[in-house]
Amino acid sequence: MKAKIFVARAIFPEVLERLAQHFDVESNQEDRIYGADELRQKAQGKDGLFTTPSEPVNAALFAANPQLKAVCNMAVGYNNIDVAAATAAGVMATNTPEVLNETTADFAWALMMATARRITESEHWLRAGHWKKWSYDSFTGPDVHGATLGIIGMGRIGQAIARRSMGFDMNVIYHNRSQLKPELEARANNAKYVGKEELLRQADHVVLVLPYSKESHHTIAAAELALMKPTATLTNIARGGIVDDAALIQTLRTGGIAAAGLDVFENEPAFNPEFLKLSNVVLTPHIASASTPTRLAMANCAADNLIAALAGQTPPNLLNP
Ligand code: DGY
Repeated sequence: MKAKIFVARAIFPEVLERLAQHFDVESNQEDRIYGADELRQKAQGKDGLFTTPSEPVNAALFAANPQLKAVCNMAVGYNNIDVAAATAAGVMATNTPEVLNETTADFAWALMMATARRITESEHWLRAGHWKKWSYDSFTGPDVHGATLGIIGMGRIGQAIARRSMGFDMNVIYHNRSQLKPELEARANNAKYVGKEELLRQADHVVLVLPYSKESHHTIAAAELALMKPTATLTNIARGGIVDDAALIQTLRTGGIAAAGLDVFENEPAFNPEFLKLSNVVLTPHIASASTPTRLAMANCAADNLIAALAGQTPPNLLNP
């Protein structure tokens, strides 16, 4: 008899077909987002769950579903899963690292460039019919080339972002839980390890790439924003809760920093509507990994993990200690 799984969101049909070769699949192809209670119900009788960052997977779900063996998240970030509770319940939890590093780093650059060079703001202005003449100071902003790039969270994606800065003659500083080995720093455009405060003071462009956890909640709040240069930009491609949105809105309003680029929000898809009133913020709907090949690779990676886990093997990307 095939193991039973629940696929919690719409995914690529070819990956669904692949899963169906191994499992008895129930899937949410209508793509409605399930909250914790509904997901707990949907997990009933299932051996495995295929989830995305939108689904809260918590201790109550494990308690109500003692038959569950694996939860495989289609994302590198897994703050939606209580891994400690999974471990306590004997459930394997997995994520999808590596396959999205380069695509996500590309996007961090796109967002940082759009933010620094005011691309969406100027396009909206042009579309609204305001362009009457070329002016010496139209949409001027900070330079990217030759500037100091500050990366907070120097894992695989952070390093891929740093490597791209070589072509822009940038000076790279980073802050991380621990300092990288010298050979990795050298590959990351000779990135220099500094304290968080020093990074915020020195960087012209700050990019956030750290995982979200209780410890990283509001890593950037009013005190941190106050350290940044008024000409600096802040780009967040990590998780919304890393930035205190209210403090950021106030800082953007008062010119405390030049601009921000945000791909993630604390309660997404909801976000603070005050952002919409600001012209110096670029807002995107959590799409940093959204190239077609990368999203397919992520889905297949989550499927690989589920197939291995429910075959009694150790899945390639096991998160439980
Ligand atoms: C991830 O993989 O964590 C991304 O944020 C999802 O696109």
